[in-house]
Amino acid sequence: MAAITLNNGFKMPLVGLGVWRMEGKEIKHLLINAIKIGYRHLDCAADYQNETEVGEALSEIFQTALVKREDLFITTKLWNSDHGHVIEACKNSLEKLRLDYLDLYLVHFPIATRHTGVGATGSAMGEDGVLDIDTTVTLETTWHAMEELVSKGLVRSIGISNYDIFLTRDCLAYSKVKPAVNQIETHPYFQRDSLVKFCQKHGICVTAHTPLGGAVANTEWFGSVSCLDDPVLKGLAEKYKKTVAQVVLRWGIQRDTVVIPKSSKLERLEENFQVFDFELTKEDMDLVKSIDRKYRTNQPAKFWGIDLYA
Ligand SMILES: NC(=O)c1ccc[n+]([C@@H]2O[C@H](COP(=O)([O-])OP(=O)(O)OC[C@H]3O[C@@H](n4cnc5c(N)ncnc54)[C@H](OP(=O)(O)O)[C@@H]3O)[C@@H](O)[C@H]2O)c1
Repeated sequence: MAAITLNNGFKMPLVGLGVWRMEGKEIKHLLINAIKIGYRHLDCAADYQNETEVGEALSEIFQTALVKREDLFITTKLWNSDHGHVIEACKNSLEKLRLDYLDLYLVHFPIATRHTGVGATGSAMGEDGVLDIDTTVTLETTWHAMEELVSKGLVRSIGISNYDIFLTRDCLAYSKVKPAVNQIETHPYFQRDSLVKFCQKHGICVTAHTPLGGAVANTEWFGSVSCLDDPVLKGLAEKYKKTVAQVVLRWGIQRDTVVIPKSSKLERLEENFQVFDFELTKEDMDLVKSIDRKYRTNQPAKFWGIDLYA
């Protein structure tokens, strides 16, 4: 399957399956079918609270002839409250996922919050309704512990997520093992060309989370507007005889980002993977560029009482 080579030589498939908001009981069915369709890249996180179900599904899958562990690229993420407990948190995720190594481990957000137990998710809030940030842990300390995971052989690649240009630049400065990936929200309504170009110039692969703009899920959770209803994108879908989602994912791939759409519908899993049999022209890539709204659809401020991106 089409893949990008990371700055440490490992390959990461260009289309992955995001598992946020997948319910435990549907996971086995979805993963088996996704693998049959051709997905070889899974994007998980401790915070998605379904690592156990993903692990159960994977261990069953590895007992069949469908795929072997080494055929898959599996990512999971360090939760905010575990920045001071990186090694234990990673081992906890490995145990739940029933794996002995991860392909990629990401710092989920550039913020350490009050520790509430290894592997715990959620966000501790103060009585003032504001996220309890742990001001004693620096991102540099967290990163050096991430580097230790590589030397211990628990993780092949390490990376960051939701880091802006300044934080990414700092990480490049203090790292001995460079971040292989920065996973950020990006889609036609939130293109972030400067951050994407900055990362790519410094050998950091950009993975587009929320690559469909979160569609209906983010409209429901955050009241956001979906790019899948955009008239320009609808026009391109008609022109290429593809769906709007396929055009959006293809656009993501053609700007050298990796895309990790989530779907709990089999026909959409299939649809989102059929993006290698057409190519957007330079003019159409430019046309998509013109519809950027600098519009973030995923708003954790809803849960945290403060906007960390402000
Ligand atoms: N690092 C981070 O902080 C972070 C943040 C957010 C997300 N992520 C990762 O990125 C992955 C994707 O993000 P996301 O799930 O928030 O957003 P997304 O993939 O952009 O959109 C998911 C939504 O789109 C719908 N959908 C999927 N395929 C579709 C299609 N072909 N046509 C129309 N609608 C479609 C899904 O509904 P159905 O399920 O009903 O099909 C769901 O409502 C997550 O699963 C997670 O792994 C990471």
